[in-house]
Amino acid sequence: MKSLSTLLSGIPPSATMAVNDKAKRLKAEGKDIIALAGGDPNFDTPKHIQEAAFTAISNGDTHYPGPARGTNASVSAIVNKYKADTGLDVANTQVIVTPGGKWALNLALAAMLNPGDEVIYLEPVWVSYPPMITLAGGTPVAVSLPSETNFTITAELLEEKVTANTKAIMITSPSNPTGRVITRAEADAIVKVAVENDIYVIFDELYEKLIYDGKHIPLSAEPGMAERTVVVNGLSKAYAMTGWRLGWMIAPPAIAKLSATLHSQAITAASSFGMAAIEAALNGPQDDVETMRLAYKDRRDFMVDALNAIDGVHCESIEGAFYLFPRFDLGLTSMELAEQLMDAGVVGTPGSAFGAAGEGHLRFSIASSMEDLVEAAKRIKAFVESR
Ligand SMILES: Cc1ncc(COP(=O)(O)O)c(C=O)c1O
Repeated sequence: MKSLSTLLSGIPPSATMAVNDKAKRLKAEGKDIIALAGGDPNFDTPKHIQEAAFTAISNGDTHYPGPARGTNASVSAIVNKYKADTGLDVANTQVIVTPGGKWALNLALAAMLNPGDEVIYLEPVWVSYPPMITLAGGTPVAVSLPSETNFTITAELLEEKVTANTKAIMITSPSNPTGRVITRAEADAIVKVAVENDIYVIFDELYEKLIYDGKHIPLSAEPGMAERTVVVNGLSKAYAMTGWRLGWMIAPPAIAKLSATLHSQAITAASSFGMAAIEAALNGPQDDVETMRLAYKDRRDFMVDALNAIDGVHCESIEGAFYLFPRFDLGLTSMELAEQLMDAGVVGTPGSAFGAAGEGHLRFSIASSMEDLVEAAKRIKAFVESR
């Protein structure tokens, strides 16, 4: 048989998925384990959003949506939200509704990159960024953020990796996996480096509504940034809608135009009734989002304290998203740690899955019930103390 794609053969499978799959297998075999490895809220999608989609389907909204990049109603909801958050006006044609934020990230990279272009990402990094860059024909370039500074971004760290080939920087705030929300000083550093070096910024705001301390800084509203920033957002995390696969991008016109070309040729559109759900989510009541945010905050407070009470574990409190990223000073690699802890009944994702900067850490999702977190904390303590 002829050989298959070398590009795809070189992409490792997602480490977070691999850990999740193993956890599911062990659970199916009857092992008593608590899985804190995934990024899926343990809440149901708010009722009024479900109903909007049911209604759309029963009203016959089951055809190819038009315009393919998003119905006028869903795009207007996104444009209005963006205006309220940033003060910026964008045309409807700058928005593309996508099946999940993931596809919006892929579109942005595909629209920007030519072979040889470099894209800077920050480690610890969400596992999908480097493969996405490679698949879009770019070269991923890691900036390693130090664990000792709680992964603070500085202009110096970014500048060290900027070359004449740097096309874009990918930024996530709040961050998966570190839970950090960019500060004013960090935003200034990113803007300085991007503007001075004429670099695009892909700003991933998937967790923007899940902030417990600090404030979201929309990078696109900073001076000189609207024309170089692609904003990626979606409903998966804040609205507990991971399975719906709904997200969007807001991009400068030229990037939006190229992204729309790929979008329509590759997948045509996101689902028609999903677009009705976007409208309901963004224009409807936000109480459910607030209830979930407060629940995550309670879980964070409990779990950070519980982990810090264990000798040999250091857990920074998180400002946003729903992952804790504690460091275990046990002389084990994070892969060894994850494997041994799984045997002790708790599944976390090894920090090294997020790049070398995550070594020594594990990522625990707090999008799990409080009962599970209480039991997991007991098991982690017993595991560390048994060593
Ligand atoms: C940082 C970050 N960006 C984007 C996504 C993609 O989310 P979705 O495709 O479900 O919108 C995720 C999901 O885990 C994420 O953690």
